[in-house]
Amino acid sequence: MARVPVIAGNWKMYKTQQEAIELLMKLMEMNETVSDREIVVCPPFPFLGLAHQAVSHSNIKLGAQNCYFEKEGAYTGEVSVSMLKSVKCSHVIIGHSERRQFFGETDESVNKKIKAALAEGLTPIVCIGETLAEREEGRMMQVIKTQVEGGFSGLHKEEMQKLIIAYEPIWAIGTGKTATPEQAEEVHAYIRKLLADGWYGETSESIRILYGGSVKPENIDDLMEKLNIDGALVGGASLKAESFTRIIQFQAKKGSN
Ligand code: 13P
Repeated sequence: MARVPVIAGNWKMYKTQQEAIELLMKLMEMNETVSDREIVVCPPFPFLGLAHQAVSHSNIKLGAQNCYFEKEGAYTGEVSVSMLKSVKCSHVIIGHSERRQFFGETDESVNKKIKAALAEGLTPIVCIGETLAEREEGRMMQVIKTQVEGGFSGLHKEEMQKLIIAYEPIWAIGTGKTATPEQAEEVHAYIRKLLADGWYGETSESIRILYGGSVKPENIDDLMEKLNIDGALVGGASLKAESFTRIIQFQAKKGSN
């Protein structure tokens, strides 16, 4: 089953408002003819409203980097899914390893956030991935399995089809140390098999699984040739129009290596 590739940029906590708009303007200009893949940018919360105005007539979709699962209430500092919807976000990153590491995100909160996002029609980009120690101790697959089972608990097939998974090995994030295409493919294939064997059967074939962790213009083509790699979640290299554009415009023959 052909899965439409997704290239998503996670800007993390970088850029001022002016820099954000300048970057979006350049990205729109450089990618206006791209139509066979989805482009998503995830700027920090304060820039989302203005960012929407900038990209609203383009092929660039807007995502947030986090959300809260309650609809509204006395939750100082949190942002609800309906707020994101009101500034025309279509995507939201959930469970990024930095949120798990620094802000106490758990598989349980990830699960609630996914359900809240889906209920409002937003597409969750759900991050999972192992630490270096977990990989070296041979616990990688178990960690992935726990995150998948906990994060996606109780979701129906139709809901799973609407979300995007991002496999981001923590040791590859911001380190310049990319997983090789073979290492990434091994885990992507495992995630798809977990979903198929567990409860989603053939639905797993239509779920997009992105790779994230030091994706650069130099490695995107090789990564995208792998059968189960359906796109990328890009941090550092999404902060510059030239490098992100090269990643968006990857060239790959699926399954040729
Ligand atoms: P880098 O591309 O900077 O390694 O970040 C990856 C990431 O965390 C994307 O969400």
